[in-house]
Amino acid sequence: MQKSITGFSKLSKRKKLQWLVENFFRDPEGVMKELMSYWHIDEEKQSLLDRFSENTISNFYLPYGVAPNFKINGKLYCIPMVIEESSVVAAAANAAKYWQNRGGFHAEVLSTEKVGQIHFIWGGDIQLLRTKFEDLKKKMLSKAESLTANMISRGGGITGIELVDLSAKSSDTYQLRINFKTADSMGANFINSVLELFSKVLVEFVSCDPYFGPERHNLDVLMAILSNYTPECIVRAWVECPVEQLGTVESFDALKLAKRFEKAIHIAKIDPYRATTHNKGIFNGIDAVVLATANDFRAIEANGHAYAAKDGQYKSLSECRVENGIFKFWLEIPLAIGTVGGLTSLHPMAKHSLELLGHPTAEELMMIIACMGLAQNFAAVRSLVTTGIQKGHMKMHLYNVLASLNASECEIEQTVSHFKHTIVSYSAVRDFIGDLRESPLK
Ligand code: MEV
Repeated sequence: MQKSITGFSKLSKRKKLQWLVENFFRDPEGVMKELMSYWHIDEEKQSLLDRFSENTISNFYLPYGVAPNFKINGKLYCIPMVIEESSVVAAAANAAKYWQNRGGFHAEVLSTEKVGQIHFIWGGDIQLLRTKFEDLKKKMLSKAESLTANMISRGGGITGIELVDLSAKSSDTYQLRINFKTADSMGANFINSVLELFSKVLVEFVSCDPYFGPERHNLDVLMAILSNYTPECIVRAWVECPVEQLGTVESFDALKLAKRFEKAIHIAKIDPYRATTHNKGIFNGIDAVVLATANDFRAIEANGHAYAAKDGQYKSLSECRVENGIFKFWLEIPLAIGTVGGLTSLHPMAKHSLELLGHPTAEELMMIIACMGLAQNFAAVRSLVTTGIQKGHMKMHLYNVLASLNASECEIEQTVSHFKHTIVSYSAVRDFIGDLRESPLK
């Protein structure tokens, strides 16, 4: 047993895998074979995937599905989704179909500004820096010209630089907050490159200008990085229809449904426990499209949850109002995504996702993703306040249980038919399959 190793990253992929299976698995040969079976047969494609990360030993597959019939601002989309949770794609597709006949989804991008920060310590009189701030800004912008030229030609660039005083909360602490527009790219690399350059310019500026005198020694640049919180990069998605068009769900007529729905959203506004689950449902849809287009789902999640807490309490990201006979349901969310650059242009599946969506601009993709989040939220809440979520979930879960029991096509058919009107649980399905296997003609 040799569970610690030096030079692991230098080993070939096969050697890495060998060391791993020999040290951590009971059936080294079997596991090796299994993990290698997920290597791409096309070596070029595999080495492309390997370049996305480090120490790769295999690929981790997730289902890639689509939700058709999404009418957004009058245009029809078939939306790609990468997600491992059963019911999510089905719910999205159902919500899409449902709203297709009720005016479809609507969406609008409200703003597209992103933020970068340079955090620094200034032990002396900050007024000195304030006095020279306009000169500093000019210097920064001129030094960054070679970095920003291309972005400006694409409609982006730097839109503001401000000095933020954090010294009341943390002694001698200040920040340069820089606003960016990054056109169709998510812009993380662009923003971080500009910030690191600006940090150098700040240090040079203060050390070279005699105006600062000995005060120049008071500057210490701590770190420079984009902020994943983008409350000024916001999209709004909504659906609306006359209440009576909502239709009935089992014993719930349209008005009852509308009122119960509105109440459920209100509860997610006032109770963080419910709000978290509620927003998780929104992100079921959002993350799936974000992944399918190879955008950064960790950034999207962090951003959305920070925004959900912007008023000091974590709340639902969506809202609902039933007024004058009209049901309105909407979502406002920050989405910093891209359709060019990064993995969006490198990952072969992401390229297909973007083609499937008609090569959207970043703003169009923001609208698509927000509508998907809203659709998912609509489907979940509508189920919750009517039939309950388990009915649909367990139906889909049944297939996972069947897969784990290695059920044959014929067994699947019989089991699905049996559980149409029976409660699904792992043990119930296992017993049913067990019975089938004992007497297959059942
Ligand atoms: C499950 O993945 C998502 C839901 O819990 C969302 C919700 O409760 O609104 C169904």
